[in-house]
Amino acid sequence: MAEFTKEQLLERVNTNHGAEGNARVRAITERIVTDLFHTIDELDVTADEFWKSIAWLTRMGQTGQFGLLTAGLGFDRLLDIRQDEADQKAGRAGGTPRAIEGPLFVAGAPLSQHEVRLDEGEPEGEVFVMEGQVLDLEGQPVAGALIDVWHANTQGGYSHFFPGMKPYELRRRIQADAQGHYRFRSYLPPGYAIPPGSPIAELFTALGRHGNRPAHIHFLVAAPGLRTLTTQVNIPGDTYIDDDFAFATRDGLIVELEKNVAPVGYESLGVTAPFTRSRFNFVMQKAVNENEALPLTRMERVAG
Ligand code: DHB
Ligand code: FE
Repeated sequence: MAEFTKEQLLERVNTNHGAEGNARVRAITERIVTDLFHTIDELDVTADEFWKSIAWLTRMGQTGQFGLLTAGLGFDRLLDIRQDEADQKAGRAGGTPRAIEGPLFVAGAPLSQHEVRLDEGEPEGEVFVMEGQVLDLEGQPVAGALIDVWHANTQGGYSHFFPGMKPYELRRRIQADAQGHYRFRSYLPPGYAIPPGSPIAELFTALGRHGNRPAHIHFLVAAPGLRTLTTQVNIPGDTYIDDDFAFATRDGLIVELEKNVAPVGYESLGVTAPFTRSRFNFVMQKAVNENEALPLTRMERVAG
């Protein structure tokens, strides 16, 4: 039979002709293709509309913007909500809330013991120190915990993605001391906006949505035997704090800012005048298996 109805075509597309394949991939693909067939039919998607969307997806891939798409359409937060639900069912409560990783992590940032300057001695904006301890759920310090921290520059750009920035600019790794203490100096980052004129911006313009994220700082915290924590904190007072394009703002992750803190004791970070400080402890759950404690980002976990 070479002529088929739409239904017959769908059935053929979704038929596994005796080959082994991967049952999970098959089930998910079948569902997505079926839903898309129905979308095309019910919304009467034209051939031009369809091919335009394929051309757009191609440009998305070429500009490496799929990670922005998933965040902006809520999938990153959805996965966190689902993981929170699973944790609740499993009786795994407590600790610092997880938050989205975002698509802009870069592995291999310079490593320092206990403290570091992210701003590389080129002060911009408000001098900011964030400090605290890495703790377990019992409140015990996690000696030697590894903290990856990254944030945007004054123009909302991330190094390795935004032109003109130095390698690893505003990206560092800090190994906490024996008492789990860490601290770093930087400046308060501004918000972030999706790149104008990019494929992702085209979509959000068409959707009538903005592409702004409130000011935030990303963290990946890892230590042996503990569940790797991907999170981010928000700087209070940002216009978009409750209107994040990536839906990532969470209670418990909005830091408090102490203004005009005396610089005594912060000389090693080059602080000589009153500055803005935030104290924040990272509280980590126990890992229930080795996989959970791998010091990897969400993307690195699945990299081949
Ligand atoms: C996006 C940007 C971020 O800085 C982030 O943390 C998450 C998502 C984005 O452009 O999609
Ligand atoms: Fe970000």
